[in-house]
Amino acid sequence: MSVIELDTVVKRYESGTETVEALKGVDFHADRGEMVTVIGPSGSGKSTMLNMIGLLDTPTQGTVRLDGRDVTDFTADQLTEERRSVIGFVFQDFHLLPMLTAIENVELPSMWEPSTDRRERAIELLHRVGLGDRLEHTPDQLSGGQCQRVAIARALINEPDIVLADEPTGNLDQETGRTILDELTRLKEAEDVAIVSVTHDEQMVEYADRVVRIVDGVMQ
Ligand SMILES: Nc1ncnc2c1ncn2[C@@H]1O[C@H](COP(=O)(O)OP(=O)(O)O)[C@@H](O)[C@H]1O
Ligand SMILES: [Mg+2]
Repeated sequence: MSVIELDTVVKRYESGTETVEALKGVDFHADRGEMVTVIGPSGSGKSTMLNMIGLLDTPTQGTVRLDGRDVTDFTADQLTEERRSVIGFVFQDFHLLPMLTAIENVELPSMWEPSTDRRERAIELLHRVGLGDRLEHTPDQLSGGQCQRVAIARALINEPDIVLADEPTGNLDQETGRTILDELTRLKEAEDVAIVSVTHDEQMVEYADRVVRIVDGVMQ
């Protein structure tokens, strides 16, 4: 069963008198252990789609299923709870908190869980992404590639089923971008997560198990 599924999803934005149909009946699914890359030009609806998959916004029409459960009509609170436990996020500009160490940044999404082994898991994840010797470093003491590794470890702290990556290589040089893509490829198998990345970087195609293209709100 797919861990996330969009079924004929339409998203319209109303601004003043104008209506933009950003998604025009999109079907999409991702399974555990696969990396799906969504490629499309600027304005094609990638971010809108990622917001639907990440439960950050709800469709105008259509259905969103998480592990086969219809979550389309969930309340904002219910969606937040699902998001927290099922989805990890990786962003182009890392979104790390500058005052916190690598360990603290990784721990952050699990702070409200009454967990006793949070610190141990954060340290273990940092070791797994090759930062075992950078545990107490703050983001300004780390390279861009290292910051993105911290962000990947943070995305995994709550043992998600899905990792969503919005242009994960966008702020990295090509070689560093490759090491991050190698890392994600390794983790998708080790952690049995679905990775959905959205990009306009054609380099990501060769790392994908599946590539879907979106143009003007329509899957190609
Ligand atoms: N909040 C919004 N209000 C109005 N229009 C929006 C909004 N967000 C996105 N759009 C429009 O929807 C279309 C798709 O945008 P987006 O999903 O951001 O594309 P991409 O991420 O591929 O660049 C664009 O035409 C954009 O202008
Ligand atoms: Mg975008």
